[in-house]
Amino acid sequence: MTEELDAVSAVLKKKLGIDLGCYQQGETQYLLTEKLRDLAKEFPGQYQNLLRAEETEINLFLDWFTNNTSFFFRDPLVFANLEYRFLPMLIKRVEKNNRGDLRIWSAGCGLGEEIYSVAILLDKILPDEQKKNWNLSLFATDINSRNLELAQKGEYPVERLEHVPLGRLQKYFIKNNKEEIYTLSKKICEKVTFSYHDLTSAKHLTPSEAVFGSFDLIFCSNILLYFSNETRKVVLNRLQDALVPGGLLVLGSSEHLYWNPGSLIPVENGLKIFQRST
Ligand SMILES: C[S@@+](CC[C@H](N)C(=O)[O-])C[C@H]1O[C@@H](n2cnc3c(N)ncnc32)[C@H](O)[C@@H]1O
Repeated sequence: MTEELDAVSAVLKKKLGIDLGCYQQGETQYLLTEKLRDLAKEFPGQYQNLLRAEETEINLFLDWFTNNTSFFFRDPLVFANLEYRFLPMLIKRVEKNNRGDLRIWSAGCGLGEEIYSVAILLDKILPDEQKKNWNLSLFATDINSRNLELAQKGEYPVERLEHVPLGRLQKYFIKNNKEEIYTLSKKICEKVTFSYHDLTSAKHLTPSEAVFGSFDLIFCSNILLYFSNETRKVVLNRLQDALVPGGLLVLGSSEHLYWNPGSLIPVENGLKIFQRST
């Protein structure tokens, strides 16, 4: 199985640019071994050839490997804190500095639920004048390009909306008549720029569309837990550098700051939000 594993890893690196070495070895190897074992029954001894040749199979593999489970307002406590404490704080700081822009990045955005949740909150709390005059830069990136395309469409099964209060559901979503699919309003979808960005890539610190870092708020939730310790360090260093002083980093509820690059401070015990101090 090790040989097959190496062969598949090499194909993934070449075809998709994914470096399995950046992920938790034990977990990744276990998952891959299980997957290969299943597939060996279906395509004995030739799965890596299939990966080499078939785009469909590679895409299926990518979908399986990049778990995109997410929900709107996934962690209600985090989003309540953002709505009532931290977004108003960031908005005030932008006003004070006369910057005229607010920059937010969802790294490893899956199908976009996280960045769209923030866009909905901003639609509610940003005063009309700022809405008109400010440059709102909302970036969302991932390594699964097909999911990025889907995210842009803003169509979601009802299960992903279970934390959306009824008022917001009625205001921002339209229910498809036949299926349990909800479409997010165009006004919100249009605010977000989706693009490919590999957090482990040595080439780009932040999404190239963002031109430069200087983010007020970065989400990197439910991704670091899949990375190796070495990769976590590299990524956390970069994320800290991509924040403006006073900017915030949000991790997933089951994650922690695996490594402190120096100036990330928890805003409150138990809440996975960290502020760049300098
Ligand atoms: C579980 S989802 C998290 C979605 C969202 N951040 C949340 O917390 O609800 C993990 C996402 O990380 C993405 N991902 C995995 N490896 C990545 C990498 N090297 N660079 C960027 N995104 C990555 C996956 O494609 C997947 O969409």
